[in-house]
Amino acid sequence: MAVYAGLDMGGTNLKYGLLDGQGKVIWWGKDPTPSDLQLLLEAIKQIWTALQKRAPGRITAFGFGLPGIFNRQTKLIHRSPNYPGLNGVPLEPLFSRLVEIPFTIHNDASMAAYGEYRVGAGQGSKSMVLLTIGTGVGSGLILNGQLWEGANGFAGELGHIIVNPDGDKCKCGSQGCLETEVSSEKIVKNYQQISRRTENISSAEVYQRALAGDGAAQEAFAQAGHYLGLGLASTINLLDPDKIILGGGVMKAGDFLLKPALKEIKRRSYLFDYSQCQIIPAVLGNQAGFIGAALWAQSRLMQV
Ligand code: BGC
Repeated sequence: MAVYAGLDMGGTNLKYGLLDGQGKVIWWGKDPTPSDLQLLLEAIKQIWTALQKRAPGRITAFGFGLPGIFNRQTKLIHRSPNYPGLNGVPLEPLFSRLVEIPFTIHNDASMAAYGEYRVGAGQGSKSMVLLTIGTGVGSGLILNGQLWEGANGFAGELGHIIVNPDGDKCKCGSQGCLETEVSSEKIVKNYQQISRRTENISSAEVYQRALAGDGAAQEAFAQAGHYLGLGLASTINLLDPDKIILGGGVMKAGDFLLKPALKEIKRRSYLFDYSQCQIIPAVLGNQAGFIGAALWAQSRLMQV
């Protein structure tokens, strides 16, 4: 039985697992994301050992989904706004010392998009966009049934399109990016500003308060939703996708974020009313990234 492995590096956790040839998850696990590169390499070594122990057959390919812009030619992660320890690191030679089977490296959100496309909410779609909103905001594009990689492999960095030119500074060096306006960090910041409370809470807690009727918490999501709508309206005007799939921890806030976003999309995208674009939730949850990475590795291997 052929088995494929995948690993997804998120702001909070590393998620990893094994898939059979049909894309069914056989086993999966997660560990906290290590704080530096050395610890990350050690974690990958241990995860690789664990995956081999759990695999019911030979693992034939391993796919990695990592945050930041990975250059297909130079095999470098150039920039990773939320994980600067990866900046400029030639990961392929480092990984090849740990994992002795064919492997692929790609952007985490592109891999999540590929996962949703193959076995999740994007099945049957021709042109779709997956947007994932968490610590970072990333996206992956499937156009005409193919993962759109761009000239270098960087395509789909929707988290860094500008939605608020006068907004906060972004970790990417720019200002007012979609990521700066809708990430989990921004939800908390919005809440602190609106409620004039300085306590350190998580965006999940802001969601709990919104559910309990806290107006400041609801407004924190509404402000982010407004910018999300701006970003998605431009995305629709640019690509005319049949599906936009929304995932990531912050999307658990559902309508608190989605309603204001939809209002803005309708106002700003002049083709939305005529398009068939469905805006729907992701279905693979926090497994999308490693599932997509494993399926991507499988598909690359089949091309050789
Ligand atoms: C990075 C993307 C990544 C996203 C989610 C963004 O800050 O630029 O490459 O996909 O965060 O991790």
